[in-house]
Amino acid sequence: MAKPWNVDSWRGLPIRHQPTYGDSTAQESVEAQIKSFPPLVFAGEARKLRARLGEAANGRAFLLQGGDCAESFAEFHPDYIRDTFRVLLQMAVVLTFGASLPVIKVGRMAGQFAKPRSSDTESQDGIELPSYRGDIINGIEFLETARTPDPARMLQAYSQSAATLNLIRAFAQGGYADLHQVHQWNLGFVSGSSEAERYRDLADRIGESLAFMEACGLMTEKVTEVRQTDFFTSHEALLLSYEEMLTRIDSTSGNWYDCSAHMLWIGDRTRALDEAHIEFMRGVENPIGVKVGPSMTADELMGLIDTLNPNNDAGRLTLISRMGAEKVYELLRPLLARVKTEGRTVLWACDPMHGNTIKSSTGYKTRPFDRVVAEVRGFFNAHQAEGTYAGGVHFEMTGRDVTECTGGAQEITEENLRDRYHTHCDPRLNASQSLELAFLIAEQLKAQRESTSQQVIAAQ
Ligand code: PEP
Ligand code: CO
Repeated sequence: MAKPWNVDSWRGLPIRHQPTYGDSTAQESVEAQIKSFPPLVFAGEARKLRARLGEAANGRAFLLQGGDCAESFAEFHPDYIRDTFRVLLQMAVVLTFGASLPVIKVGRMAGQFAKPRSSDTESQDGIELPSYRGDIINGIEFLETARTPDPARMLQAYSQSAATLNLIRAFAQGGYADLHQVHQWNLGFVSGSSEAERYRDLADRIGESLAFMEACGLMTEKVTEVRQTDFFTSHEALLLSYEEMLTRIDSTSGNWYDCSAHMLWIGDRTRALDEAHIEFMRGVENPIGVKVGPSMTADELMGLIDTLNPNNDAGRLTLISRMGAEKVYELLRPLLARVKTEGRTVLWACDPMHGNTIKSSTGYKTRPFDRVVAEVRGFFNAHQAEGTYAGGVHFEMTGRDVTECTGGAQEITEENLRDRYHTHCDPRLNASQSLELAFLIAEQLKAQRESTSQQVIAAQ
């Protein structure tokens, strides 16, 4: 690393989207407690994910990343964790089966609590209060007491992350994720829909394949890859004092890892090269993501790649494009071309959510499903045009039967939004929309694979 780095070297730099705590003694006491707590993840797991993402960067795997826009203390419930986990499993089997590629599962879960906001304050009926910045910082209720940043919330976020991660690990390794259970993952309210039918067909085929292997003498119930899955966690590394407290030197490698999650990403609003978030993230060895929005220039992107991945290590850096459905094809192509020409290995993923948020006529923030689909298609088309690999997707979704995004096979209307609108921040795809999208992506991936193998044959 060119410049010296330390776990607190970000502190001297300009920083955005941070709370101001009134009581610095309380803040210091909370930070000291978190520093003394066990890490949430083990560095070896982050290394494993980084190696997997390296496979994806090289076109041999695909990243599926998804979960809440913002987790909340109020909606902390084992059923919600299970439902989001199982929709991600369903999406993963659809993608794996459709594209014959390993799918890397990463939740926006167990730590996704801090949010950047477009304005520092919010006004209602002539009263102005600080904006809600996520449950790790303040409360969502429009009350002065709730909106005052409270450092003790970091302790609750840590404990909720630990409990969520514990349940996810149990599901991933304790039998729930066993491929023999593939039929059981269908959620009640999804069944009866056209995606549920498609999913059932696919589950039947997986069941037949397992039965066939067993008939051939392969004891599939003893194969770890069939019985268990690897499931990783991620969140936006926004609240840097919290991230710093969970950043530790790994005794195996001697390197620094941010042990609040396996993967961390930098948001589109905090990615300025000479500011605190980039400084902090360049020194931790986790796999990291950077959101790439419409204002990103090719020069700026190269600066970020030089700083965050100076050794050009595949798997270190995931670039999460979030351009908006109309602009993605045009804006992404020059970035793909430049990164390719400069010989940099990165993983390109598509976030089709954040560039497609609109206000509905009924007053709700929403995302039309068609625009989400259109951005995914534009993303794949841009890669096809540049001869690069579309290696992942990043969604805001939930296993709950919410009505937050319009459209999809359930044909959710702007009127329906008020029925079950529960998000603490941005609108999420519900289970049925998520599954529908997974089938569409599987088709895109299959087409990508076929066109790549044709190019390989043509080149021979
Ligand atoms: C997010 O992922 O919730 C987010 C705020 O995204 P972005 O930084 O891309 O706006
Ligand atoms: Co969001």
